[in-house]
Amino acid sequence: MRTEPVVQARKVSKTFAGVRVLREVSLELGRGEMVALIGASGSGKSTLIRSIAGLTPIDRVTNGSGQAGEILLFSQPMQQRGRIAGAANALRARTGVIFQQFNLVPRLSVLTNVCLGRLGRMPFLRASLGQFSTEAKRCAMRAMTRVGIAEHALKRGCDLSGGQQQRAAIARALMQGAEFIVADEPIASLDPHSARNVMDILSDLNRRDGITVLVSLHQVEYALRYCPRTVALKAGEVVYDGPSSALTREFLGSIYGSETDDLFAAIDSKPITAVAAAEAPTAAINGAISFDPSHRMPTEHRTSAHA
Ligand SMILES: Nc1ncnc2c1ncn2[C@@H]1O[C@H](COP(=O)(O)OP(=O)(O)OP(=O)(O)O)[C@@H](O)[C@H]1O
Ligand SMILES: [Mg+2]
Repeated sequence: MRTEPVVQARKVSKTFAGVRVLREVSLELGRGEMVALIGASGSGKSTLIRSIAGLTPIDRVTNGSGQAGEILLFSQPMQQRGRIAGAANALRARTGVIFQQFNLVPRLSVLTNVCLGRLGRMPFLRASLGQFSTEAKRCAMRAMTRVGIAEHALKRGCDLSGGQQQRAAIARALMQGAEFIVADEPIASLDPHSARNVMDILSDLNRRDGITVLVSLHQVEYALRYCPRTVALKAGEVVYDGPSSALTREFLGSIYGSETDDLFAAIDSKPITAVAAAEAPTAAINGAISFDPSHRMPTEHRTSAHA
């Protein structure tokens, strides 16, 4: 059953200095989905995410079809005919954006950083003075508790570990009341434990709060593990959009090219597969890497030679 659309990207192209880095990308996300965006370095993941978040204007006209691309969020235009729409700010207020790093203002306390999620909903003068109400601070503390960083509230943003900073960024999105979180490689700089922690939180927000999540991931094993659906980009084109469980090694190899060895090394690494095997045993299908939705864990199925 298809839920109401949160993202509708239609024939989105983007050209930088004459080089087309997104080619007529179409993508639809329904409310409550958690979708991984994968692809090799340079395939266009960040450009697509920034376009969806209204941070990068897309091309005015799509070359191939002559049709202009457009991006709608919550069924309202974020970008049309190469222009960020007038209603973009209202749509951004409903969208939490998380990057790989530099998510926090380093010198401000974590509490203030999280409170900044409220800026869009505050009177201009109070917002510009950074005066947050007691109610806002309480709400920020609740958000920090939810992501497990309440005890760090009074530290400066720059004094948190990478994983804690990402959790603070998620808390800020919660403070913002985001209905949609778009995250560009939020775990790329983190150790496996912190990475799992951040993905667990995103997954929890998706399942318990119904927040729609689009997350780009360089490490495919996390896509398999956490996201029922994966969209794969190759050289700016969507080459796969479907169940993560149907992704095969051969197909991933064709997407990642020379990066394939790194990818498979990651998939084969003990920490992830050990957890997956212990928590989500599923029947074997030779050569496929599948996702067991009942456990939200992928299990890599191998030939008996590897078993
Ligand atoms: N502001 C820019 N100006 C010029 N070229 C750009 C700009 N941003 C991205 N590109 C180019 O667009 C292409 C896609 O870049 P993008 O950052 O979207 O890829 P990516 O899939 O996110 O890669 P990575 O996995 O390395 O983050 C690359 O060739 C990149 O060099
Ligand atoms: Mg990127």
